[in-house]
Amino acid sequence: MDNQEQKHQRRVRYQGTHPKAFKDKYKELQPEKYSDTVAKVIQKGNTPAGMHRSICVKEILEFLQITPGQTGLDATLGYGGHTLEMLKCLQSEGHLYATDVDSIELPRTRERLADLGYGPEILTIKHMNFSEIDQIIPESGLLDFVLADLGVSSMQIDNPDRGFSYKTEGPLDLRLNPNKGISAAERLKTITLDELQGMLLENADEPHATEIARAIINHIKRGKELTTTSQLQQVITDALRFVPEKERTEQIKKACQRSFQALRIDVNNEFEVLYDFLEKLPSCLASGGRVAILSFHSGEDRLVKKSFQRLYREGVYREIAPDSIRPSMEECNTNSRARSAKLRWAIKA
Ligand SMILES: C[S@@+](CC[C@H](N)C(=O)[O-])C[C@H]1O[C@@H](n2cnc3c(N)ncnc32)[C@H](O)[C@@H]1O
Repeated sequence: MDNQEQKHQRRVRYQGTHPKAFKDKYKELQPEKYSDTVAKVIQKGNTPAGMHRSICVKEILEFLQITPGQTGLDATLGYGGHTLEMLKCLQSEGHLYATDVDSIELPRTRERLADLGYGPEILTIKHMNFSEIDQIIPESGLLDFVLADLGVSSMQIDNPDRGFSYKTEGPLDLRLNPNKGISAAERLKTITLDELQGMLLENADEPHATEIARAIINHIKRGKELTTTSQLQQVITDALRFVPEKERTEQIKKACQRSFQALRIDVNNEFEVLYDFLEKLPSCLASGGRVAILSFHSGEDRLVKKSFQRLYREGVYREIAPDSIRPSMEECNTNSRARSAKLRWAIKA
């Protein structure tokens, strides 16, 4: 290529009005510069690339009743949307701690919040697992409020390099912290048939767990590659050939969603760390301290509900949510990712 040609090289532009590839959505990835584009995407009920729209903000703030001077923890920083709203409630008095395991998104969120004027004098961000919540207390003192918005952020799901979605081609990784533990592809290399079947059932209630587990194990035994999201999607598609044609496309889609969820929960030990967090919580809360937890699938919600109910019976919590709270119809209509959310809360005795 000569110099003349190099000079005219242009950045990849939107392909029409609806670019499909994450990296081509350069407008959505720069919300400060292209606020109109971002507003349009949100108006359509979608989440712009590289962003996360916080769920149940109003309901969470109403419950937490944050007042200036308090100390709290956002256990799942993500894009920092809930964090920002909680910081506003503090009105520059008190302190907010925030944790996240994601080594890729955390520095970006820290910078974004610092640019908005929230630095270390009011906000301490720690790269750590919320299962180690007790390690924050010597520094923070007992907490007046805690929020955990479980699972994955839109930035994680939408970034094909992270491998969280079967919808885009990428490495079969699925780690929230890509610097720790093993990827989903590595995990599948050594898993047994029984273990895999159990994982699909326990983590995602997968009705075709037997067929999918058998197909994955046979694929690996035959020495075939299973290192990308689309390879796993293909194995699941092949395993469900027996489903009547009329229902097949829909069932494959759901099986892919559930299988990716099951793998994600497994590689990140999500149930184990949530259990540890729930066990440690009461000793980290001040008397009258409030905790709100937002979950996105039945396994998570069950753990939260059981823990809150048991600790309420034991008198550790003085009040718990009588039932789970769902996002409003309006929120679900404008943000499809809110649809599976369930909010539960508890107040320390
Ligand atoms: C749903 S997003 C949170 C979004 C955030 N509330 C907002 O408004 O932007 C969940 C976040 O929790 C993080 N996460 C998940 N499990 C975690 C754990 N055990 N410890 C710390 N962070 C965790 C994920 O990396 C992700 O960034």
